[in-house]
Amino acid sequence: RRLWLIVPAAGQGRRMGADRPKQYLELAGRPILARTLARLHRAFPEARLCLCLDPDDAWFDPRWVPFADWRRTPGGAERVDSVSGALAAIASEADVDDLVLVHDVARPCVTVDDLRRLRDAALAAPAGAILAAPVADTMKRDDGRGRIRATEPRDGLWHALTPQGFGYGLLCRALETARAQGVAITDEASAVEALGLAPRLVSGRRDNLKVTHPDDLGLAGWILAAQDEPYRN
Ligand code: CTP
Ligand code: MG
Repeated sequence: RRLWLIVPAAGQGRRMGADRPKQYLELAGRPILARTLARLHRAFPEARLCLCLDPDDAWFDPRWVPFADWRRTPGGAERVDSVSGALAAIASEADVDDLVLVHDVARPCVTVDDLRRLRDAALAAPAGAILAAPVADTMKRDDGRGRIRATEPRDGLWHALTPQGFGYGLLCRALETARAQGVAITDEASAVEALGLAPRLVSGRRDNLKVTHPDDLGLAGWILAAQDEPYRN
């Protein structure tokens, strides 16, 4: 089973509100995109990479890609469309049993250790696996008018992180079925769940932050500096 990495990087970073898509903002002196790809390459130097980019992207520089085997695939309107585009682009090369890990370009702090644990779990789990972190805060549901309607039991609630890993054939079938049935897909696992399958939760580090808002940049820089040497790059 070969390993494919799909890195959706076609977002505009609207919530960041910067002068460029957030994956091109510098984090400790290097663009976020370069940092994320460097971590993935450290964990899986032999993997094949699909990098989903906006066809009109004027910021990308191929020198940031450390993989020997990689291709650029056109991003779509939504994240799921970018991932589907990558799956379609490798259809003639990929085997149904190959493993596909999908990882947000906006998560540069993922550790090599978590990447490999997720890969190992996804290889062993028939319905695939995702990195996830248990919810720590008490969860409130609002009444639509800024007041608390209910306290939701926190037990058994997880934050869905990336990577998310599935067999190539399964992931294609899940995304195609979701599209045909009009199921809203926010991550790959939700498409697999909609097939009635149960992907495995792999407990990952809580510092696998998705850089989303302006204050996340400082936080991500601090996280990178605080991580142990083997995880740096
Ligand atoms: N993404 C993508 N194609 C899209 C939308 C998002 O490949 N049409 C990617 C982003 O580049 C990011 C990941 O999906 O790596 C997660 O999306 P998000 O954090 O929402 O990033 P953006 O969509 O860029 O940010 P925003 O929603 O604030 O505009
Ligand atoms: Mg988005």
